[in-house]
Formats: sequence, C-alpha cells, structure tokens
Amino acid sequence: MVQLTLPKNSTIKTGKTWPKPDGAKNVRKLQIYRWSPDDEENPRLDTYFIDTDDCGPMVLDALIKIKNEIDPTLTFRRSCREGICGSCAMNIGGINTLACIHGLDEVKGDVKIYPLPHMPVVKDLIPDLTHFYAQHESIMPWLETKSNTPQKEWRQSIEDREKLDGLYECVMCACCSTACPSYWWNGDRYLGPAALLHAYRWIIDSRDEATGERLDDLEDPFKLYRCHTIMNCAKTCPKGLNPAKAIQNIKKMMVERAV
Ligand code: SF4
Ligand code: SF4
Ligand code: FES
Repeated sequence: MVQLTLPKNSTIKTGKTWPKPDGAKNVRKLQIYRWSPDDEENPRLDTYFIDTDDCGPMVLDALIKIKNEIDPTLTFRRSCREGICGSCAMNIGGINTLACIHGLDEVKGDVKIYPLPHMPVVKDLIPDLTHFYAQHESIMPWLETKSNTPQKEWRQSIEDREKLDGLYECVMCACCSTACPSYWWNGDRYLGPAALLHAYRWIIDSRDEATGERLDDLEDPFKLYRCHTIMNCAKTCPKGLNPAKAIQNIKKMMVERAV
C-alpha cells in the first residue's frame, strides 16, 4: 500500500536543553538538528546557549565552541574556516550557506541549524554527498585535449581567461543544488546547478577540445532541461555565483549548434 504520511521515526522531537552559561551578559540560543545512525531514536532539536562575548562572530565559531565546551558529540564538517573548502555547508536560519562565513548577527532570533535539505543524513549536520560528487565527476571536471601537449603551459588570452570568472570560484558546497526544487524532485537524474555550473566552466574553457562531446552528454531531457529558472541557486550561493545563468548559457549553446 502507498504510504501517504512521513514515517513515524522521521518526526523531529524536542531534544535536550543544555544549561545557560554562568554570569554571561550576552547569551545566544541555538537550536541544532541531531540524529545518529547508532540508535533507533528520532531526530531531535537540541538547545544550546552560548556567551557571545566569549565566542567568535561566525556560526561555525559557535558550533566549535559548543563541541569543545558543552557537547562533544555534536557532529559537523569543517576545514578551512574561510569559505574555501565548502565543507561547512548547512541550513542556518532557513538559508543554505557556509557556517564559517555566516555571522551570528546575520540570523534574526534563535539560531536554528539543520543539515542541507533533501539529502540523506550521515549524522547530525553532515549530509551524504556521494551522489552529488558522482554527478560532478560525470561532467568530466578536467581539461580534455586532443592536440599534442605544449612544451610549456596551455595558454589562454586574457579575454578567454576572463570567461571563467564567476565559475572557477565554486567551492562545491552543494548549497545551490540542495536549494533547487527541480533537484529535490529529480536529483537522481537532473544534474543540478552545481554540476551544471562546472559543466559550463569546462565547455567555455578555450583550451578544452571536447566541447561537442560535453554538449552531447547534456542533451538529455533530465540532465539539463529540468532547470526551470526558479533562481533559488543564485539566491543562496554563499560565494555569490549564478549557476542559473551558466545553465541558460548551456541551453543557448544547444540551440545555436542545432541551427
Ligand atoms: S534556476 Fe534552475 S538550477 Fe537554479 S534553482 Fe532554479 S531550477 Fe534549480
Ligand atoms: S555554485 Fe555556489 S552554492 Fe553552488 S556549489 Fe558552487 S559555491 Fe556552492
Ligand atoms: S570551513 Fe571551509 S568553507 Fe567553511
């Protein structure tokens, strides 16, 4: 029989409330999604309080403070702490963003933190990005050449190099793809904004010699054409990139080569 309601064990319950810090003047409340594969428990929202006078300004600073000083079981990814590695992506105050470059003062009211939406959860704030990375690999994110390798580097004019601006800066955080309704419903076959932005980055690279093959591969009702220009991707990208525009450019190239 078709199940029309969410399974009981997916309901998010109220979790533990940790004590407020003693003597703190400026206290911030954080509510954080917790789930572990190691027990049979439902997901829950735990409540923590931090002294903002004794904490760095970013959401990641607060998470590290909680892990170091309050609850060492809290699990999240992070590495560079400066918006470069893309690993601290999560949903903060309803926005997919990078915790290390999102200020606590940018969140109104209590700070609610969930993992990136519509992805399987490994634990707490860590989503399973296996499929997302496999899609990235599928677009051949490397230079494909047929000419003989030059003696020195593959050269580009300044103008051709500039065409990569707004594309090469992507840190593969998955904020855009997990904010895209088309990716939510068809993520198994639609490549999503992140992988398509990267596809375009290689398509327009003047040194690449596999443009035709790259476009052939994307000529598919699902891989590319599930983008309906809803623009959530551009709105949420913490690096200020515009995957929707890259997708539009690929569609335009498809039309131009067909005439
Ligand atoms: S513009 Fe396309 S890729 Fe971006 S959120 Fe909308 S449907 Fe998704
Ligand atoms: S386009 Fe922006 S949101 Fe999407 S993966 Fe790249 S950096 Fe993250
Ligand atoms: S820790 Fe690297 S992007 Fe946030």
